[in-house]
Amino acid sequence: MSKKILVTGGAGFIGTNFVYYMAGKGYDQVVLDKLTYAGGKDNLDPLISAGKIRFQQGDICDKNAVKDSLSGIDYVIHFAAESHNTRSETDPELFYRTNVEGTRIMLEESFSAGVKKFIHISTDEVYGSIADGYFAEGDKKLGDSQATSAYSKSKSQADDLAMEFGRNYPVIVLRPTNNFGPWQYPEKALPRWISNILLGSKIPLWGEGLQVRDWLYAPVTSSCLEFLLEKGEAGNAYNVAANHEPEITNKTAAEWLCGLLEVDPDKWIEYIPDPRPNHDFRYALNIEKITKLGFRPLVDPFAQFRETVKWYRENQSWWKKRKEEAESIYK
Ligand SMILES: NC(=O)c1ccc[n+]([C@@H]2O[C@H](COP(=O)([O-])OP(=O)(O)OC[C@H]3O[C@@H](n4cnc5c(N)ncnc54)[C@H](O)[C@@H]3O)[C@@H](O)[C@H]2O)c1
Repeated sequence: MSKKILVTGGAGFIGTNFVYYMAGKGYDQVVLDKLTYAGGKDNLDPLISAGKIRFQQGDICDKNAVKDSLSGIDYVIHFAAESHNTRSETDPELFYRTNVEGTRIMLEESFSAGVKKFIHISTDEVYGSIADGYFAEGDKKLGDSQATSAYSKSKSQADDLAMEFGRNYPVIVLRPTNNFGPWQYPEKALPRWISNILLGSKIPLWGEGLQVRDWLYAPVTSSCLEFLLEKGEAGNAYNVAANHEPEITNKTAAEWLCGLLEVDPDKWIEYIPDPRPNHDFRYALNIEKITKLGFRPLVDPFAQFRETVKWYRENQSWWKKRKEEAESIYK
């Protein structure tokens, strides 16, 4: 409880969920965030003004900012990244700089400062797409050849760096599937679809909408990270996923959202040609390793979708000020 945690990217989507989750449990946290388009200090203002966290605006590629943020820190949870596949097609250098170079600087500076545990947030996208079956941790090969976008390639290289550091230092790598929940920037599928409907626009579904994503609720990812801080074994990578039965296609997800927002899916879903023709079709992870260690993800997708829709209904000013910028990348 008395350990002090540095959360990089804590003003982004999963970071904000995590910071609230841990603040609720009384942890002492510092957030380091550059506040790119995806970071919102407004997310954290209630915690900052109540003195529950310290916020530092800074870039993980700036060694001095990183050194400052590490003062007195025991654990690092490293979320900061450029996170959007579509944006990575037009600015791959930025993705490489933040996701690979930034991660290297975070690792080097953290261990020079004597950090006792470092959790790097990787992604299921480092394995690429899988038609049948599930990827286990050992299926990630060195390098970025399994990854299909500049985003996932940069995350794959960052994952390798973290695993390499993990041979000599206490590093853990977490590879979660697609997250959803409050505070997700409306460029991403679920908040884009929810906010579209709330504004009276249709849901654009790519291709036939049969892609499979293993939707994981961001508060569940947060509880997983808390678990790994205590029980995770240094030098290891862990998958985490909901493993839905049956699997949820994008079409099903869109139909659920229509149902929750009380609109007719036949009228509100519009099928459009996939703008990313090599778009990964199915992500699926084997989570035996983390469940054997004792973590069971709380899986209740329909209820978690309902909570998410409720949040976007009740926080319209939050997403409305982000919506225009978010849509501009699809034009
Ligand atoms: N969202 C998902 O579904 C998902 C799934 C698996 C893994 N991940 C990984 O989880 C992490 C968080 O994802 P997210 O969806 O919350 O991302 P996000 O884009 O919502 O947030 C990223 C945060 O990082 C900050 N940031 C960006 N560049 C920075 C820099 N140079 N220095 C400091 N801060 C910087 C941004 O300001 C923002 O607050 C990422 O590493 C991502 O790859 C996300």
